[in-house]
Amino acid sequence: MNSLKALTDSYYNVDSLEKYIDLNRISQSDPESFWSTIAERNFSWRKKWDKVLDWNKEESTVKWFEGAKLNITENCIDRHLASKGDKTAIIWESNDPTEAAQHISYKELSIRVNKMANVLKNNGAKKGDRICIYLPMIPELSVALLACARIGAIHSVVFAGFSAAAVASRINDADCKMVITSDGSYRGAKKLNLKSIVDEALENCPIVETVLVANRTNLDVEMKAGRDRWLEKELSYAEETCEAEEMDAEDPLFVLYTSGSTGKPKGMVHTTAGYMVYTAFSFKNVFQYKDGDIYWCTADIGWITGHSYILYGPLLNGATTIIFEGVPSYPDYGRFWEIIEKYKVNQFYTAPTAIRALANQDIDFVNKHDLSSLKVLGSVGEPINEEAWHWYNDNIGKKKAPIVDTWWQTETGGIMISPIPFVTPTKPTFATLPLPGIQPALMDEEGKEIQGNSTAGRLCIKFPWPSMARTVYGDHQRYIDTYFSAYKGMYFTGDGALRDEVGYYRITGRVDDVVIVSGHNLGTAPIENAINEHPAVAESAIIGFPHDIKGNALAGFIILKDETRNPENLQKEINNLISSSIGPIAKLDRIHFVSGLPKTRSGKIMRRILRKVSSNEMENLGDTSTLLDPSIVDEIIEKVKEVL
Ligand code: WTA
Repeated sequence: MNSLKALTDSYYNVDSLEKYIDLNRISQSDPESFWSTIAERNFSWRKKWDKVLDWNKEESTVKWFEGAKLNITENCIDRHLASKGDKTAIIWESNDPTEAAQHISYKELSIRVNKMANVLKNNGAKKGDRICIYLPMIPELSVALLACARIGAIHSVVFAGFSAAAVASRINDADCKMVITSDGSYRGAKKLNLKSIVDEALENCPIVETVLVANRTNLDVEMKAGRDRWLEKELSYAEETCEAEEMDAEDPLFVLYTSGSTGKPKGMVHTTAGYMVYTAFSFKNVFQYKDGDIYWCTADIGWITGHSYILYGPLLNGATTIIFEGVPSYPDYGRFWEIIEKYKVNQFYTAPTAIRALANQDIDFVNKHDLSSLKVLGSVGEPINEEAWHWYNDNIGKKKAPIVDTWWQTETGGIMISPIPFVTPTKPTFATLPLPGIQPALMDEEGKEIQGNSTAGRLCIKFPWPSMARTVYGDHQRYIDTYFSAYKGMYFTGDGALRDEVGYYRITGRVDDVVIVSGHNLGTAPIENAINEHPAVAESAIIGFPHDIKGNALAGFIILKDETRNPENLQKEINNLISSSIGPIAKLDRIHFVSGLPKTRSGKIMRRILRKVSSNEMENLGDTSTLLDPSIVDEIIEKVKEVL
């Protein structure tokens, strides 16, 4: 215990790999002592917990810090006011580079959150209610989440790019009786009418009583009498203080739906104390955030990355966090680099999809900006291929800012596997080591744990951690079936991973995308990695389709960087590349060169659509409304029809 206390002092000051591995060993052998030490030293509790962990394996229920009382907003805001009241909590950067930015101090954030909390109360919201938030990346979005937390309401943020049907199904699943939205939103050169999407959704949501509407775009919107109210007007007469509701450690903080899942949406439920402890801890350590640093995560608050690492993690640490309303390509592909220069960003966290898109542009977009403030670069959401990793490392970090390739999920609440900058030597495409207290395991097909290094398997987590989702909203059985049934007593991630000779993890992709070809299991992710190494290839997606003789065959949908190449030669080269890196069995039967892939707004490829089109099931593609660009589906259908 003594060495644990020393190591975790004021979080922990790891400065050597040796010390870090030591800490990992101690924390993994006794996660309860570890997390209670972290929890005790770094937060403000109204009442301490009676029990650190209550884990019922049979029923797959987990409780952390049971008996504790707190409010997360007192930890995000109030406790910083005395020492950091004037410090900037949030820098808001508009979609339009000529519009003035907002610098919101902790003091001002406190007032805005308290006022919004009073607006929610004045409109009938109370502890335990679910409130749907469907807003663009404007300051009101972050204020709305915190205001819900202030009064103990459970926020359910729906990414403001989802269709009316998707919004309706999420509102109904969580029985939200209030919606917070805006008239419209700006995304690049586009202006979208969010309110009309909400109106359409609400035709199927009889339970919603109140809609609060922020004015962002001055769009002419219809306001339904008795239901819809302008947020600005409500705020104008709200009081500036609102007593924070006292919450139990295990009271739900929010529901967040996982992206890209088919069928009924799956609302992951995160609870208060464990989520707070873990996101604060992981933010501080993974980004090595130091007081005074400017941190920027480019995700949308509509996804888990935005919840944990734009909002909660940074604010819990009293950090300055940037909220960017726009897109990387507007007004041109230099926007990210311009913002980094403008605010002297120290930690920058983005997704491989963005990195690849930006790497495809003229390098002048990067080189005309001073990026020397950058200390740490982050990557999240999908495996980062080697080429993108090097481009990011060389051109953005100038080989001086370590890349933290962070593996985690909506379900895990926080980063699980990641390097610690300046401590863990990075290795391209490897998320490297688990964070303290996290116990990964690789499992074989028979359900046995694979020991030792230089191996591969299905990634599970053996022991609970504080920020794990506690259930699927309204359907605990689905939670058990999805996550705790494949391997008894363990959390199954759905991902495959390999562990190298020193114990570093590399996440290879979803194991649900495995295709069996002539009786051989082939992962689509490794094939894509191989193809993406080809200099003419920008991105690719592989799927399986039924084949008379082999059972399944593989099709590749490939976006080219270099479209001047002869397609037949290119097809041969790509198959040779696959052959040499995986084996001839992994060769593609069909190669389609396309201009885009059907991606969700969070950057995930909807393989289901490629699979269906390739299986000649064009009429039955399911919901394509969550795609970034639904028109790409028509192009894909045309390309596939050419070979059918
Ligand atoms: C994938 C995003 C490789 C993985 C935080 C996981 C990654 C899914 C990485 C969760 C990474 C996330 N390397 N793959 N660094 N990070 N993934 O719920 O397949 O949107 O299961 O959470 O993204 O996606 P989600």
